[in-house]
Amino acid sequence: MKKILLVFGTRPEAVKMCPLALELKKHASFCVRVLSTGQHREMLSSVMELFGVAPDYSLEIMAKGQTLFEITEKVLRGTRGVLEKESFDLVMVHGDTTTAFAAALAAFYARVPVCHVEAGLRTHDIYAPYPEEFNRVAVDALSHICFAPTERAAEALMAEGKREDLVFITGNTVIDAFRYTVREDFAHEVLDFARGKKLVLITAHRRENLPVLGRMLRGISRALAEFPDVCAVYPVHPNPAVRAAAEAAFGGNGQVKLTEPLEVFAFHNLLSRAYLVLTDSGGVQEEAPHFGVPVLVMRNTTERQEGAQAGTARLIGNTAQSVYTGICEVLGNREVYMKMAHAVNPYGDGHASERIADILERAIEV
Ligand code: UD1
Ligand code: UDP
Repeated sequence: MKKILLVFGTRPEAVKMCPLALELKKHASFCVRVLSTGQHREMLSSVMELFGVAPDYSLEIMAKGQTLFEITEKVLRGTRGVLEKESFDLVMVHGDTTTAFAAALAAFYARVPVCHVEAGLRTHDIYAPYPEEFNRVAVDALSHICFAPTERAAEALMAEGKREDLVFITGNTVIDAFRYTVREDFAHEVLDFARGKKLVLITAHRRENLPVLGRMLRGISRALAEFPDVCAVYPVHPNPAVRAAAEAAFGGNGQVKLTEPLEVFAFHNLLSRAYLVLTDSGGVQEEAPHFGVPVLVMRNTTERQEGAQAGTARLIGNTAQSVYTGICEVLGNREVYMKMAHAVNPYGDGHASERIADILERAIEV
């Protein structure tokens, strides 16, 4: 029997690792344990509850306004503690958070092979996104097995010298998550708010965007004002810096509803019914195309180029003017909009977790 430790600690990791944890647990040949670092608190626990995944170990490290130094130190020490308590054949981490980096480093120091889910994403700019580009490069360097969501990601790994027989293209497990979340019979106060209007869903939280977030949001506000048939909902990340910028840009604006972070169940269902998405998130860029919802990415670069290549996403930068122009070009031109809405989702078919489990089952020597 293979003993596998899955480590995660933020909302997006949980959305993408819970379907995998549930799939691995179906296999009698795996003994699966989950370590939650608790880099996030409420945003993490609500996802885990939805999927019914309970952690075997919890570090609960989150502190208000935490720094990268603090997260790294606490996750490194905490993961070491778990690896000293129980022996594992494999540690699986996901993506590019500081949880993923520090847990992979702990496993490497403890000489436990690391397996990286959502490997190979690259912008090739170490500061964009910051610190995520470094985190994923470092995790891939430490990893024995890499599960790449797309061909492009696999090629990036091979170009860096990863062994071809240990890189697997699986699709992204985020698409698997919809099986647990998306429902026909969904009702929500945001749908009442948006009745008779086109719904724009906004998310924005990236660390490197924080200094320009106010400008970005003002660009959105100006653009939306030109389209009275549109309304927007912005579930605001609990980071105090994000909250302040959101309140300053949209407080008192009846066209934009600010909410607490939405439960992933609500977010996925609203996303599936949205007209347009404005985001600087990574995961949301992968999710929206599944529902044929065009995505405008408020960043200067993205590791998820597949969306732009497929035509479902556009990079619109993060200045007030570029955001304003980017939104107006899509909301103001039906032909452009329809082309984006009909592009094909390049991020997977909803069976990535099964592929990963099957590959691990085939007893790769680790
Ligand atoms: C982290 C990830 C980022 C990912 C994002 C998803 C790193 C370096 N960054 O960034 O890649 O896109 O998660 O959201 O790992 N907070 C709460 N409650 C929560 C979660 C956060 O209050 O449940 C507040 C806290 O004040 C916390 C702050 O948000 O200090 C920032 O959280 P942190 O995990 O440090 O960074 P994120 O911006 O969430
Ligand atoms: N999400 C959510 N509620 C929200 C906003 C986002 O459940 O209010 C989900 C979203 O569906 C996606 C994930 O959170 O699965 C993306 O997380 P985030 O944007 O915080 O991180 P990133 O993907 O940028 O690392």
